[in-house]
Amino acid sequence: MANNHNPSLFSHEKIETSNFLMIVLILLAVVFGALVEIVPLFFQRSTTQPVEGLKPYTALQLAGRDVYIREGCHNCHSQMIRPFRAETLRYGHYSMAGEFVYDHPFQWGSKRTGPDLHRVGGKYSDEWHAAHLNNPRDVVPESNMPAYPWLAKAKLEEAAPIAPRMKALRMVGVPYTDDEIKAADADVKGKTELDAVIAYLQVLGTAVK
Ligand code: HEC
Repeated sequence: MANNHNPSLFSHEKIETSNFLMIVLILLAVVFGALVEIVPLFFQRSTTQPVEGLKPYTALQLAGRDVYIREGCHNCHSQMIRPFRAETLRYGHYSMAGEFVYDHPFQWGSKRTGPDLHRVGGKYSDEWHAAHLNNPRDVVPESNMPAYPWLAKAKLEEAAPIAPRMKALRMVGVPYTDDEIKAADADVKGKTELDAVIAYLQVLGTAVK
């Protein structure tokens, strides 16, 4: 029973006057709350199973994704369409967790200096992307997106090999076959970083129609 003369261990007075007890109980509450939110996600089909039709990135698309991350495209572009009408009218079907199971790490986000890119695949031609990445103002006069003219000059075979990256992804569950990994470096031969980024952009969000 809590009273001022003989406070039991969990009386308000005891907790509020003991830093140690307060810290331990706050930590317990936070950890419990976090686990309740996070743990079920590891077991929910909708968050762990790929959506139907989702394929792992090809070697070229994967190389493009790495360039995308290296160049910091994610600082201005999210890949997460929220389930609100204003978003789905503009971008298409909202993003679903099952579309990102082969993304390590995924490119979600909420800060958009430029538009969301999750469903940009197929929206423009490869030529449009090439012109846009070389100098965005050539196709969108009011654009303030930076130009990336060096991508067209950078050959993929001069960069780090792609096969070990596919092997690493396989270790975390991306179903690459031995043949795909063996063929990877030949697949990107002769291609530029620009080709790779475009291949990546063109597949984004296309698993869901
Ligand atoms: C400083 C912010 C910024 C960065 C960094 C940036 N972008 Fe953009 N991006 C924009 C803005 C703003 C627009 C809208 C104007 C335009 O279309 O150019 C845009 C538009 C786009 C579009 C057209 C989207 C659509 O639906 O019309 C694509 C594709 C794109 N960016 C790809 C990229 C890629 C790939 C990179 C990295 C190599 C990148 N962006 C880096 C700001 C940025």
